[in-house]
Amino acid sequence: MMLRDLSSLIIRHTVVSRRHLTPELALRLITPACPLWTAREDESPFKDPFWAFYWPGGQATARYILDNGDLIKDRKVLDVGCGCGAGSIAAIRMKAKYVLANDIDPYAIAATNINGKINEVNIETNMDNLIGTKCTEFDTILIGDMFYNEEFAGILFHWLEQLRASGKTVLIGDPGRHGLTHARRDRLQLLAKYDLPKESCDENNGFTDTTLWMLNK
Ligand SMILES: C[S@@+](CC[C@H](N)C(=O)[O-])C[C@H]1O[C@@H](n2cnc3c(N)ncnc32)[C@H](O)[C@@H]1O
Repeated sequence: MMLRDLSSLIIRHTVVSRRHLTPELALRLITPACPLWTAREDESPFKDPFWAFYWPGGQATARYILDNGDLIKDRKVLDVGCGCGAGSIAAIRMKAKYVLANDIDPYAIAATNINGKINEVNIETNMDNLIGTKCTEFDTILIGDMFYNEEFAGILFHWLEQLRASGKTVLIGDPGRHGLTHARRDRLQLLAKYDLPKESCDENNGFTDTTLWMLNK
């Protein structure tokens, strides 16, 4: 399907929402106001629409960036698993030198472009699987809520440790998913913890808060 077709499908099935931890960002999401919220899986045109939700980990990442612009100003930022694109939008708003929104799901790329337009920023996007690569052109890596699968969490964390060892800043937003084990958390510095707004609690299976971590050397 062409990007234009993906975009019109996204626009048809989502609403613009500010009911999250970064209300200064308007995002097209599937919320309880959308028919798809209660639709059966076989009624949905999307398979696993991760991009259609603003995950608590991503909310922590974007909130922290918007409140701590110095961390991002003039940095070269890679937003891995960008989903709806909120982390990238926040980084562009806070004057990052360069931002690349990366996701392997073409719908996420389309949603990120749509959300960029709504928030009046141009987002450069990329659909390659960059995990395991050196990312030489970046100095800051954003990870929003990607520790939901144990096997993938191991691969991801190992790669992030390598990137950290090469001098990059690695920011991880996470609400306490099982993939961010105690042993892994021992390698992280806590930067902030946020209570989630009621709507986000309702939409996120019982998580009531979310956390932003930075990977230590
Ligand atoms: C749980 S969602 C989080 C989205 C967003 N960061 C947030 O917090 O709202 C995880 C995202 O990671 C993407 N993803 C999974 N594996 C990936 C990979 N190897 N490289 C890039 N993105 C990936 C998925 O397509 C999905 O959009």
